[in-house]
Amino acid sequence: MQRNIGILGAMAQEIDEVKALLTEKTNVKIANREFVVGKINGVRCVVAFSKWGKVAATITATLLVQEFAVTDLIFIGTAGALADGLKVGDIVVSKRLVQHDLDARPMISRFELPLLNRIYVDSDPSLTELAGRAVNNLLAQGAEKMVGEEAVKEFNLNPSLHYGDIASGDQFINSDEKRQEILNLLPDIQCVEMEGAAVAQVCLEFGIPFTVIRIISDTADHNARIDFNKFIVEVANAYSRAIVGEIVRLV
Ligand code: ADE
Repeated sequence: MQRNIGILGAMAQEIDEVKALLTEKTNVKIANREFVVGKINGVRCVVAFSKWGKVAATITATLLVQEFAVTDLIFIGTAGALADGLKVGDIVVSKRLVQHDLDARPMISRFELPLLNRIYVDSDPSLTELAGRAVNNLLAQGAEKMVGEEAVKEFNLNPSLHYGDIASGDQFINSDEKRQEILNLLPDIQCVEMEGAAVAQVCLEFGIPFTVIRIISDTADHNARIDFNKFIVEVANAYSRAIVGEIVRLV
């Protein structure tokens, strides 16, 4: 079957960079969202800004599946680091996704997805392996190649790839207390963001293979807001473009 890859990004500017990779573009507007259909490296792709939070991302992901018949879904964006050893500029590729703010106790256990009998949604092993390979290829060429020497110096970038679990919730985490609360309950989580687990649930229910790639922009503590926007403009946009381009090159 011919692949038709859905690519979602959590930041508008970040996804603008990815859109720039498309050729033979057509724009489609549905539900206040712009979907750009085209080709990257000869592979059919549909690129869209997910918008922020779980509900918004659910709508966008569902539209990608229902209106554009995507065969795979790749989500890229930034995240706050929870795991020790993760630093700004590192890249996390998802193993599993969980909603850290889902709690339907006492009916079911904490974090369990209602009627789905599970807490975690697994990302697709082959898409995840492919994403990891793409990131490794880029890191082998040096971060400078992706973002330029100045940004590497400014953000003290020395990126490494991590595979692991990602938690999503409808909150920007920027306090030591909240960060610790999530870690106490879900100690294996690598990083926290606001969309991945929602997209994962859409993909689970529609049977679409997916993976989530997150660039660490902050440490989800009291420092989390500092330089966030600057990081997006100077680092995350370029990383996203390079990573998506390399994934599609390897498909
Ligand atoms: N995305 C990037 N950083 C984040 C944070 N600290 N919390 C939630 N989502 C994020």
